[in-house]
Amino acid sequence: MTAVAPDSTGAAGGTQQQILSARGLIKTFGRVVGLDGVDLDLYRGEVLAIIGDNGAGKSTLIKCLTGALVPDAGTLELDGKRVHFQRPQDARDAGIETVYQQLAVIPALDIASNLYLAREERRAGPLGSVLRMLDKKGMRERAGKAVQELGIQTIQNMGQAVETLSGGQRQAVAVSRAAAFGGKVVVLDEPTAALGVKESNQVLEMVKSLRAKGLGVILISHNMPQVWEVADRIHIQRLGGRAGVITPQSHSMTDGVGIMTGAMKLEG
Ligand SMILES: Nc1ncnc2c1ncn2[C@@H]1O[C@H](COP(=O)(O)OP(=O)(O)OP(=O)(O)O)[C@@H](O)[C@H]1O
Ligand SMILES: [Mg+2]
Repeated sequence: MTAVAPDSTGAAGGTQQQILSARGLIKTFGRVVGLDGVDLDLYRGEVLAIIGDNGAGKSTLIKCLTGALVPDAGTLELDGKRVHFQRPQDARDAGIETVYQQLAVIPALDIASNLYLAREERRAGPLGSVLRMLDKKGMRERAGKAVQELGIQTIQNMGQAVETLSGGQRQAVAVSRAAAFGGKVVVLDEPTAALGVKESNQVLEMVKSLRAKGLGVILISHNMPQVWEVADRIHIQRLGGRAGVITPQSHSMTDGVGIMTGAMKLEG
């Protein structure tokens, strides 16, 4: 059994554009090795799942890609250009949005405000530039459009406080936020861990629509059926390293779990 070459698995049939590429990422915490020289590839219009046992380095890897941690060594390229993220805002400015299960949204704010958190738009002319007045009407309209584009029809009113939404709808707002800003990459760390079946499916549908829009999506999940349903490729982390990359077509869930735990080895 061999690892799957990235260009043999894509929807675009070998003409895929690489959007994010990490080489040799190392991150240690004192004597604990979080990442021991990890490579990661992400292509436009694909969902890359990351699976691995507890402590395998999934969150550390994501944090090194999104500016939440600075790796000790290794390189990162976005759209073929070297990037050095020092803070999450650097990654966000470059088009990488991260959705965490917690703290994804601020419950007391309305939906439009959540979507525009930390990137409020000012009104045109001196009202905006001198008086710093926010373009609330414009933000609400564009927020409504972003939410609609992702097919979240259950949200009626962009002025509704997020605390009155269901868990799935909240997650939907966080994902829309990620999708609404011409982002290139969306990273989701266990987005459905606390959601019910219906809400999880809603989030998975959104993940698919981000892919359809041509974004690259990275999805960390422990839910194997979900991963096998939605992922184009599956990056397997084990003991701080990349044990291999497989696809739902090339390997069964049992194989995937075997590689994760070390019971099965990938060649190449
Ligand atoms: N801030 C930190 N300080 C010390 N050790 C850390 C720190 N963050 C992560 N580690 C260690 O690095 C290793 C990888 O942790 P990481 O959180 O990336 O695992 P994970 O794959 O996300 O696991 P889980 O599935 O449990 O979320 C673990 O051994 C962990 O204890
Ligand atoms: Mg983790």
